[in-house]
Amino acid sequence: MVRRPSALPYSQRKLLDLELPFLTTHSLDQVLRPVSGERILEIGPGTGLQSMHVAPQLGPEGRLDVLDIQEEMLDHISRRAQDSGVRNIVPTLGDARELPFQDGTFDAVYLVTALGEIPEPERVLSEAARVLEPGGRLVVGEFFDRHWIPFSRLHRYADRSGLHLDTRRGSTMAYLARFKPCTTEARLAGVS
Ligand SMILES: C[S@@+](CC[C@H](N)C(=O)[O-])C[C@H]1O[C@@H](n2cnc3c(N)ncnc32)[C@H](O)[C@@H]1O
Repeated sequence: MVRRPSALPYSQRKLLDLELPFLTTHSLDQVLRPVSGERILEIGPGTGLQSMHVAPQLGPEGRLDVLDIQEEMLDHISRRAQDSGVRNIVPTLGDARELPFQDGTFDAVYLVTALGEIPEPERVLSEAARVLEPGGRLVVGEFFDRHWIPFSRLHRYADRSGLHLDTRRGSTMAYLARFKPCTTEARLAGVS
């Protein structure tokens, strides 16, 4: 764990070309379960390894918003999408700690190896919960590196952000976890 997480610079983008064990696009599909017509938000997409895989599954009626703090990453994805004929990716420059979207905008939100890079991860989770529609899903993928957030810590943060664990795949070194916003009934019953 590092005390001051920071964004992977665009100059090191080659590191993002390879799929990591347990965080493959196939595993992401199984946990995120994107459906045609949905509106999904990816936070910290980097060069678009996951975006280019998820967006086509949302179809022409669906849309993938990608939000990153680095404009170069977003420009990179836009070029890739254009070259591949993918037309439903909408880039937004912004900080995940203050999402520029209204409450309940998305069917799902996901981040893969991004949460640990962002200062105040709990605030990011609260923001993700806010922009999810009731019954929406949040998927977090983390891999053991100097920025990573171990699952037990993520689970604590999620709990405090009003999210409950739905399912989890992977190992102690790399995982994908799906959370859902807690319902009022669950909160009243003290279920996390
Ligand atoms: C390690 S990369 C992961 C990229 C991609 N998800 C992947 O697995 O290939 C993390 C991304 O998070 C972005 N990021 C870092 N801090 C951020 C913040 N505060 N808000 C939004 N994005 C941020 C970085 O710019 C970078 O694109």
